[in-house]
Amino acid sequence: MDLALVLVLQIMFETCLSGPLFTVEAEQSSYASEFGEDVVMGCRFQPTLLKPNDDLEVNWHWLDPGKTNPQLVYGMLNKVEQLPSLDSKYRGRVRLLTDELKDGWAKLQISRLRINDSGSYQCFVKTGVGADYKIIQLSVKAPYKKVIKQIETAAEKDEALLICQSIGYPYTSVTWLDGQQRELNSSLTVTITPDRLFKVTSELRVRSSVRNNYTCNFTTDGSSATFHIPGSNAPRSRNLFVGGWSVSSVDCCMEENLGASVKAHYSDSFGADAKHHLDAFSVKELPQRLQNNEGRPVSLQALLPEAGEMLFLEGLPGSGKTTVAYILVSSWTEGATHSLSNVLDLSTLQLLLYVDCTKAKGDLFQEIMTQLSLREKISKEDELRTVLTGSSEALLLLDGYREGNKSFDESLKMFLSEKGRCRVLVTACPGHCPTFRDTVGTGGVLELQIPVVKY
Ligand SMILES: *[C@@H]1O[C@H](CO)[C@@H](O)[C@H](O)[C@H]1NC(C)=O
Ligand SMILES: *[C@@H]1O[C@H](CO)[C@@H](O)[C@H](O)[C@H]1NC(C)=O
Ligand SMILES: *[C@@H]1O[C@H](CO)[C@@H](O)[C@H](O)[C@H]1NC(C)=O
Ligand SMILES: *[C@@H]1O[C@H](CO)[C@@H](O)[C@H](O)[C@H]1NC(C)=O
Ligand SMILES: *[C@@H]1O[C@H](CO)[C@@H](O)[C@H](O)[C@H]1NC(C)=O
Repeated sequence: MDLALVLVLQIMFETCLSGPLFTVEAEQSSYASEFGEDVVMGCRFQPTLLKPNDDLEVNWHWLDPGKTNPQLVYGMLNKVEQLPSLDSKYRGRVRLLTDELKDGWAKLQISRLRINDSGSYQCFVKTGVGADYKIIQLSVKAPYKKVIKQIETAAEKDEALLICQSIGYPYTSVTWLDGQQRELNSSLTVTITPDRLFKVTSELRVRSSVRNNYTCNFTTDGSSATFHIPGSNAPRSRNLFVGGWSVSSVDCCMEENLGASVKAHYSDSFGADAKHHLDAFSVKELPQRLQNNEGRPVSLQALLPEAGEMLFLEGLPGSGKTTVAYILVSSWTEGATHSLSNVLDLSTLQLLLYVDCTKAKGDLFQEIMTQLSLREKISKEDELRTVLTGSSEALLLLDGYREGNKSFDESLKMFLSEKGRCRVLVTACPGHCPTFRDTVGTGGVLELQIPVVKY
C-alpha cells in the first residue's frame, strides 16, 4: 500500500481515539540551500510531550520523484535512533536536533548537501496523542561564484583566446559583451563533475591588436569577469594566465604575467645568493644524498610533485634543504641556461612561489604576497588563491617549515584542502611537521642525507 495512504488511515484512526487534535506544521514549506552547506528543516508538533519519556516516533523520509519508494532518511522511536542504511546517500550526514523535541520541534539537519538531496521530504511525528505529517521541498543549488579567467595569445597571430570557466548547478548559459555592449558569439563546453555539478567553459576569439574590453557573464547567477585587451602596443606573452572573482577588476593583459614578475623578483633578490649556495654545495654528491623513503637514490627531477600532489623533503639541519630549494628556484628562473638544466627541467611550471617559512609572521597568503613583493601586482589575496588553485602549472615551495604558527598552519591546511591541481613541496626537519607529513604517507617523503665530510 502507498505510504501516504497508510499514513492517512493511521492518522484518521489515531484522531478518532484521542481527544485533542494532534498536528504537525512545517516551519517552512520549502528550503533553498547551497551545495556543500548544511540545512536544518523543521516540523513543529502540537501538543508537545507532557513528560520527556512519553512515547514519541519521528520519521523523515525522502520521497523519490515517483513517490513510490520513500527512502528513510532518519527515524527515531522512543529515543532509539534508526539511522540510514549503509548504502543510503544520507549515511553519516543526518541528525535530529534532539534537544528541541521537548519544545515540539522535530528538526532534521542534513550536512554537506549534495545536488541529489533535492526533492520532497516528509516529516512524520507520532505521540500518545496522535500522528500527523507534512511535506517539505528542498532545493540544492551551487551558484556559479568564482569565475576563472584565462587568456591565450598566439605569438604570430593577431588573435587572443579568452576563456572563462566556472562550476555550479543548475545549467547556465554564458554571454559575452564587448566594451560597446555588443553581444558576441562564443563557444560553450559543459562537463559534469563527479558531484553532479556543471563545469562550464566558454571561449571567445578576439583580435589582440584592437583595444577593447570583453565581459563573460554566467547568466544564472550573473557572475562575470572582464578582460581588458590593451591593443597593439602592448607586449605579447605566450600564455598569460590569471584568475579573478565574480566582480573582477583584474587588469588582464598589462601586468599579470605573475610568473614573469616573480621571476624578475627572484633574479633581483636571490641571484647572487643562489649562486653562492650552488658553489658551496657539491652538486655531484647530491644524487647519492637525495633518497626516497626506501633509501634509494632519486634524481633531482623527483622533487617536482605531480599536479595536485604534495611532497616532503626531509633532512637534518645542515643537510642542504634550503640549497636544494634555491636550486629549484634558480633552475626555474633561468630555464635552459641553468647549470643543472640537463638533470632538472621545470619548464612545465608557469609559476613557482618560494616561501621562507622561518620568516613567516602572517598566514600563508600574506607571506606569499609579502615575500614575493606581489602587493603591487595583485590587489587581492583571493586572486592569488584563484590562480594557484586553478592551475596545474604552479608549484608552492615552502622552505624550512615547522608546525606551530597557528595562522600559518591553519591557512595552509585550508589551502591544501582546496589546492586543486597545484603542486606543493615542503622542506622540513624530521619531526617538525607531524600533522601535514601524515597526510602524504611515506611515498610522499624524500630524504636528504647529511653530506659526507671530506678532509
Ligand atoms: C575598458 O574598461 C576600462 C576600465 O573600466 C575603461 O577605462 C576603458 O575605457 C574601457 N575601454 C573600452 C575600449 O571600452
Ligand atoms: C553568430 O553565429 C551565428 C550562427 O553561427 C550567425 O548566424 C551570426 O551571424 C553570428 N553573429 C555574429 C555577430 O557574428
Ligand atoms: C548522489 O550524488 C552523490 C555525489 O554527490 C553520489 O555519490 C550518489 O551516488 C548520488 N546518489 C544518487 C541516489 O543519485
Ligand atoms: C549578467 O546577466 C544577467 C542576466 O542576463 C544580468 O542580469 C546581469 O546584469 C549581467 N551582468 C553583467 C555584469 O553584465
Ligand atoms: C613562527 O613565527 C616565528 C616568529 O613569529 C618564527 O620565528 C618561526 O620561525 C615561525 N615558524 C614557522 C613554521 O613559520
